[in-house]
Order: sequence, then structure tokens, then C-alpha cells
Amino acid sequence: MPGRIDDAVVNELLKHTDIVSIISSYLPTTKKGRNYVAVCPFHDDTSPSLTISPEKQIFRCFACGASGNAISFVSKYEKISYPEAIHKVAEMSDFHDERLEQHVVTKPVDENKEVLYKCLEDLTSYYQLALTSQEGEAALQYLEERGLDSHIREKFRLGFAPEDGVATCLFLQQRGHSLKVIEDSGVSTMLGGQPVDKNRGRVIFPLCDPDGRVVGYSARNLKNNDEAKYVNTADTLLFHKSSILYNYHNARDSSKMTGYVYIVEGFMDVLALEKVGINCALALMGTALTQNHIPLLRSLNCELRLCLDGDVAGQEASIKASNLLSRGQLRYRIVDSQGERRDLDEILKQEGNDALLAHVSNLLDRLDFALNYYTKTNPLQTNDERKKLIESFLPVLVDLDMLDQSKYISELSKATAYPMKTIEDLVKNYKKEQKQVTPKELMEKYAPDKVLSRRLLATENEILYLMMHYEEAREYYLDKVNPFTDETLREIAEYLLDMRSKGIEIDEASLADFIERSDIDEKRKDSLIAQALDVMNSTRYSPKYSQERIQDLQTTRENEMTKGRFNDYVHEATRGKSESEKSRIYTNVQNGKHREGGK
Ligand code: UTP
Ligand code: MN
Repeated sequence: MPGRIDDAVVNELLKHTDIVSIISSYLPTTKKGRNYVAVCPFHDDTSPSLTISPEKQIFRCFACGASGNAISFVSKYEKISYPEAIHKVAEMSDFHDERLEQHVVTKPVDENKEVLYKCLEDLTSYYQLALTSQEGEAALQYLEERGLDSHIREKFRLGFAPEDGVATCLFLQQRGHSLKVIEDSGVSTMLGGQPVDKNRGRVIFPLCDPDGRVVGYSARNLKNNDEAKYVNTADTLLFHKSSILYNYHNARDSSKMTGYVYIVEGFMDVLALEKVGINCALALMGTALTQNHIPLLRSLNCELRLCLDGDVAGQEASIKASNLLSRGQLRYRIVDSQGERRDLDEILKQEGNDALLAHVSNLLDRLDFALNYYTKTNPLQTNDERKKLIESFLPVLVDLDMLDQSKYISELSKATAYPMKTIEDLVKNYKKEQKQVTPKELMEKYAPDKVLSRRLLATENEILYLMMHYEEAREYYLDKVNPFTDETLREIAEYLLDMRSKGIEIDEASLADFIERSDIDEKRKDSLIAQALDVMNSTRYSPKYSQERIQDLQTTRENEMTKGRFNDYVHEATRGKSESEKSRIYTNVQNGKHREGGK
């Protein structure tokens, strides 16, 4: 990428962009007073800690400190570089400018990954072709019998791995893929000194990453013998079984229309739903829902419809998944499949389209689901379990209106055998405990270098605040103020002066942009931006500028610095001295004699 993108054009972009709509396209946001809030995606957040200011065009997480403008958000969220995020934001907010277009940002390609993608792409086409060859006849027939027509076969790129697994690997070599690449892509295993396709003789279900590129396979046994039903690609550089969601890329696109996705157990369930026109289903790869899946699900920004098996194991998995989704504050409901012994594919086969559609439309919210579960499927056994259930309900109960609250408290009381009054009291207590973090606590958390005197720091903070808002203060700093003693504040001041000399208008978003695009360590950037925005938005200072005020601050600052030097001197001079010697030095210092006495 040639050079730095013009500051002016980035500033225009920031002015043109609405940070709330950018962030809302990734996360659910809620209006709260003048701001918007959201669950912070940058740490394991449980309450909405992220505040978005439409006025200032910045976001800020009060829990983890993540902050910045619309571009930083996209950069952090998508884990892309800042220049890439500039382009992305321009695209999202329909901003066009020649100066931007001159800077083509090529996504940094990881060559190690790229060669694997290419190999798997060739192999997938090979499998697809084999399905239509004579050898693939039985496999094709199998798929036909399972109701997977040509439309579905093509969309999901279903295929067949020929019995001759040595030939498959040879084909890949002929296409220019090295033995190492073939091995690293998880395709082959060594057999009698030769690489052989692990999937040979099986029906192929390609597995894709969120960009829709094939990263692995699940290969189904055609016969009903005692070999494994499915063989999955082992984990590779591209493929991680524990975080992959089958059909994620298609479901994400469809969810923009439907506003929801279904989370189902296996990919045959995804295909069953596809057959009845539901294109927004994704599947766990036969594993439990875990924290690894949460970021992918969160970024769908839509309702999740959990649809796991109806047997006890499936329902237990649903409860666990439900707890996980609740903790992440994701929006979800649960398909009521309690007692249903069949999977979606079987319901469709036995009872037809309407029955399947009716089944997946039967949705419960988490409270009803949990109450059902703990009264019918898995009644609570111990006191501890009863308590835990009530505790897990408290955060949900406090947010309900009085009518719903009393309804659930009554049901919860039935399920746990605790009196309603007790549960009501617990809800009240819980509400009281949910107190907000105070600005003082925040200040302490982000307090800069504590070694410096509080007063000195306070004056530097306030001068910096004035510099952020007034050109006069920036001039004053240049002329009259020696660089701040606090390193962070000093650096921020330098950024301000740098922006000033480049003629960049200073506001929250542009300052964040300027720091973001500087050439320093990422961690340092984050903390500088967080602190800069803190100071800039502080309500501690009078928002008026006056020459007297800044002069006062500077005088106080100088006094504090002198005092600081006295203290340093006294500390140094009295070290290891006897008590009488110490007191002599103190007296000298107080009489101003230290200047002569101290070296
Ligand atoms: P199921 O056993 O429910 O398979 O496993 P299914 O989806 O109904 O498939 P069919 O209808 O029998 O063909 C659910 C998921 O568990 C994983 C697969 O990802 C499957 O989609 N699984 C199952 C395996 O990885 N290996 C196995 O041997 C079985
Ligand atoms: Mn099945």
C-alpha cells in the first residue's frame, strides 16, 4: 500500500460516517439517553459496558477501556488493519473519494494458508466431478434417496471421494500441490509409503469458513457397516472443528432477510431445513456449543433459534448452550423439542414439510424452556441445584415487568419449593447490588502514573483538556509550558500539536484516528486513545477558556514540580542518615538552605 492515506480524506469520511449505524451492523445497540449502549465485543462482557456517542462519534467501553472512532471499531472487530478498516467503513457508509481509491489495500495474504485453500479448492471440484462419474453412481443414488436434489448438491458442493485414494493424491500433485501441502491440508494419510485420501469411498460434505472457502470435510460412510459414520478432517491451520459452524456463510446472508438463524445439531439437519425453504440454518459439528462459537454468533446480530435434539442429552446441551448465550447477552429462543426422539431430517421424511415447519416454529423463551426442563426432563434434586437455578434467573427476572416477574416467580417457586416471598426478596437484593461503576472508581483504574503528585497531574490533565478544545491553549502550551511530566499526557499533547501543525481539526474522532495511524505499539495506542478520550470528555473542568485559568494552572504546576524536586532531594539526602541528621536536613530544607547544601 503506497504511503499513508490522506488525513483530510479520513476526516471527511469520519464526518460522513455514523458510528451508531456502523456498530449496529455488528451488534445490537440500545439507545440510552443521548448515547447508545451495547455489550462490549472486546472482552467477556455481561452487561452493556460499551457506550457509543453519536455526538462525538466515538465508542468507549467502561469495563475494558477499548475505545476509538468508527474506523477503530471496525478494525478491532474484524481484526483488520486500520487502513483496511478505512476502506471498509467507506464502503459501509457509501463514501467515495478518489484519494481513497488511490490506496488499494490488499489484504495481507498468509501464503501458508493460501496454498492450503488452493489445494482444497481443487480437491472439492474433483470430489464434485467424481459424484457425476460412473464411480460415483452409488453415492449419487444415496444422496438422491436422502432427498438431496441437484440444487442442494451444487449449493453445498456435495461430492464423492473415489475409492482409489492414491489416485486422488496423485491428481493433486499433478495440479501442482506439494506433498507437504496435501498433508497439511488434512486430506491424506500415509499408507505403504504413499499418501492416500482419508475420505476415500465416502460421500463428501465440504465445510467452509465464514468467507465460504472450503477448509475441511465431513465424509459419510455410504454403507451401513461398523466403520465410523462420519470422518472429519483433523484440525489444520485452516480448520478448527471446535469453532466451525456448518453453513455459516449462507446462513449469515439469509439472516439479513429473516432476522434469525437456526442452530442445529448436524449438517443433515441444515439440509433438511434447506429442503423446506429455510436457508438460515447452521450446524455445530456434533460438538457442544462453546465460547469459541460465540463471536461468530454475535456478529450475526440477529435472533438465534437453538434447535437441538429432544432427548435428554440434547436438552441438557440446550440448557448449557442457553446459559452460555445468556451470559454473552445474545438474543435467542429455543425450539421446543422436549420428548421428540427424531432429528429434523427424520421428522421431514416421516411427516413432510408442514410438520417440520410447525416443529421449528414452536419457540420458547429461555425462562419457559428452563422451567420446563427443570420440572419435566430433569427435576432438580439437591438444594444446591435449586439455589443455582434461582440465582441463574435473577439477572433475567430484574429486567422483566411486574406481571411477568410475578408469573415467573410463582413458577420458579413451584419448581424449587422455595416460597415466592424469598425469591422476591432475592430479586430486590440483586437489583440493589447491580450498582454502576462510579467515575471515581474509573479514574482510579485508569489513573496515570501514581508517583506524580495528584495536584501536578490534575493541572496537567486540565491543561491538556483545554488544549483539546481551544487553539489558544495549544499556543500557550507551545510558548509557555515545558513538556508535561506525565508521559502519557505528554505524548497526547504532542499528538495534538502535530495535528495542529498539519491543520487537522481536532475532535474526538479525528484525534483517535490520528493516534490510531501513528507508528507505535498497538497496546500503547489503545491506552493513549482511551486516556485521551477520557480527558477530552471529562466533565470535571469548566468548559470555558480563559487566559487567567491556564496561567493559574501553569503556576500551580510549577510549584508542584518544585515541591516534587524538594521531596526527591529530601528523600535522597536523608537516606541512611541518623534521626538527628535527618531533622537537621529537614530544617535546612524548610529554610530554603537545601539549594546550597544539596549537590
Ligand atoms: P448424528 O449422528 O445426529 O448425524 O450426528 P446426522 O446429522 O443425523 O446424520 P445422518 O442423518 O445419520 O447421516 C450429528 C453430527 O455429529 C457429527 C456430525 O457432524 C453430524 O452432523 N458426527 C456424528 C461425527 O462427527 N461423527 C460421527 O461418527 C457421527
Ligand atoms: Mn439424521
